[in-house]
Amino acid sequence: MKKDFYTAVADRRSFYDISKEKVTSDEVIKEVIEQAVKNTPSAFNSQSARVVLLLEKHHDKLWDITKEVLRKIVTVDQFADTEDKINSFGNGYGTVLFFEDANVIEALQSEFALYKDNFPVWSQQSSGMHQYVVWTALEMEGFGASLQHYNGLIEADVKKEWSIPESWKLIAQMPFGKPKSQPDEKQFKPLEERIVVFK
Ligand SMILES: Cc1cc2nc3c(=O)[nH]c(=O)nc-3n(C[C@H](O)[C@H](O)[C@H](O)COP(=O)(O)O)c2cc1C
Repeated sequence: MKKDFYTAVADRRSFYDISKEKVTSDEVIKEVIEQAVKNTPSAFNSQSARVVLLLEKHHDKLWDITKEVLRKIVTVDQFADTEDKINSFGNGYGTVLFFEDANVIEALQSEFALYKDNFPVWSQQSSGMHQYVVWTALEMEGFGASLQHYNGLIEADVKKEWSIPESWKLIAQMPFGKPKSQPDEKQFKPLEERIVVFK
């Protein structure tokens, strides 16, 4: 039986210790992405989100690209830690890349000038919702994922490697795999300080 929604929300964590071991079929992973991209909301129903799923050698290539970019900018003595971190993402089963299509945002800005400044903000918010739906759905399927932002550093290489349209802006990378260990216990601020109810 699949987890219920609230259990999946509570169990979704940042998993950094992941492996390539198979958890479910690639078809199921594709379905997770399809459900998220189809049903997650966007401002004015703009549907500006774009998603790329990298599996097998493509997933490995993404983290090789990231490592090589970082090798050029991180000092030699710090690179061992950086390499370990990037390898931990590469150790996973796959990576989901989240983009937003700038052409869609710009078209809305011209059409609805009154909201010009809001569209880029709403685009980021909607992308975050897409990321959260995929993150939580991957949790439901038995994967552990984390959220990474090497955006500016790798965007040009990523576009070249996978022939991504120039207008797609890279927002986030989500490596996922079979959890090898549980994350540390999470600390929570008291909800009374964060939620107010008037009735
Ligand atoms: C908008 C956003 C950006 C984040 N960026 C990163 C990131 O760049 N690298 C990373 O390792 N984790 C990133 N995280 C993960 C958070 O650090 C993590 O969700 C938070 O500490 C709570 O832990 P949990 O995910 O285990 O519940 C990000 C999370 C959010 C919501």
